Amino acid sequence: MAEIITDLKEISNPSAGDDAKKIVVSGIRSTGNLHLGNYYGALSKFLRMQDDFDCRFFIADLHALTTNPDPNQLHASVKNILAEYLAAGLDPDKATLYVQSDVPEIAEMYLLLNMHVGIGELMRTASFKDKARKALGLTGDGEEIEKEIIGNQSSQARVNAGLLTYPTLMAVDILIHKADFVPVGKDQEQHLELTRRFARRFNSFYGVDYFGEPVNFNFGGEAVKVPGLDGSGKMGKSEGNCIYLLDDEKTLRKKVMRAVTDEGPKEPNQKPSQPVENLFTLMELVSEPSTVEHFRNAYADMSIRYGDMKKQLAEDILKVTTPIRERILDIRDNDEYLAKVVKQGAERARAAASETLRDVREIMGIRGIR
Ligand code: TYM
Repeated sequence: MAEIITDLKEISNPSAGDDAKKIVVSGIRSTGNLHLGNYYGALSKFLRMQDDFDCRFFIADLHALTTNPDPNQLHASVKNILAEYLAAGLDPDKATLYVQSDVPEIAEMYLLLNMHVGIGELMRTASFKDKARKALGLTGDGEEIEKEIIGNQSSQARVNAGLLTYPTLMAVDILIHKADFVPVGKDQEQHLELTRRFARRFNSFYGVDYFGEPVNFNFGGEAVKVPGLDGSGKMGKSEGNCIYLLDDEKTLRKKVMRAVTDEGPKEPNQKPSQPVENLFTLMELVSEPSTVEHFRNAYADMSIRYGDMKKQLAEDILKVTTPIRERILDIRDNDEYLAKVVKQGAERARAAASETLRDVREIMGIRGIR
């Protein structure tokens, strides 16, 4: 065993060289179209990173399978997201753009890494608890989920094993590239923490220094959480509170004008309620600082009219989304171009992934009879 470990330590980390560009990996699930949460939490960072880093961005269609989508919708959604990546400005000559399922090495490494992942830690993951709770129609805590899953015959398919092992697959997406940075929104940070834990565990179990510990990337700021229009905490597809990059002008204005607010400030300088603070948060993302200041002051001196604020917010969102929307409509039916992009992306991604998989198999003892 000692001899083997010495050999294994020589397996190099491709991202470790001084001159090598840092490796960046991130993906978005193909479950519909991209919304402002995806844009500000992830895609806008991808755009800023593609010039300076070795970026690998993908469409997480295997992750989308965990919620059992309609096959035709899943396929359409993969194409949509690819078109949206390109329309937003991702450049296939700068970044590797691929579809997760086009890289079969990921599926194999997912199987291998699962041997070092505990069922308990997966069941405690916030996103699993959330999704399982929804699938089972529960409102209670983790214990109740466990009881339901194990005890209730009919619930077993609703909470599938893929949903439970979602973080393993995500860790593999990242580790198979030996990524340094993983630009994601705040909601994905727990998954990233698990990725680092799995990497450490793998290294220590096999006595190797093979995987690094990738971190989120926010250009020195905090991870972003884009709020929804319904007064709730987070913009999300399943929450039905989204503004999509593809929304036309009329739809978008209507959504913003209907956003939840309150009856207005009751006294000067009071703290805004959550729904109103959400509008300010959105404004901080899309508007000029002077515009935000204007409405913050108007709120503080109680002269604010939410209708005016929403009109301005819609205007400023449209400035971001309209050019992207026009390009999406242009690109999304160009099958030949889309196919070419992902073919080239898959080739590059597979080249990197197969090296890591080869090493991981070797480290774990899957060595073939030579
Ligand atoms: P997904 O598809 O739910 O979201 C894609 C990206 O958008 C970000 N995001 C948000 N950011 C801020 N505010 C919001 N309201 C908001 N909604 C979504 C997410 O944080 C994410 O960055 N598990 C991942 C996909 C994935 C992945 C990976 C990401 C699979 N493998 C490997 C990075 C690396 C997911 O479901 O993201």
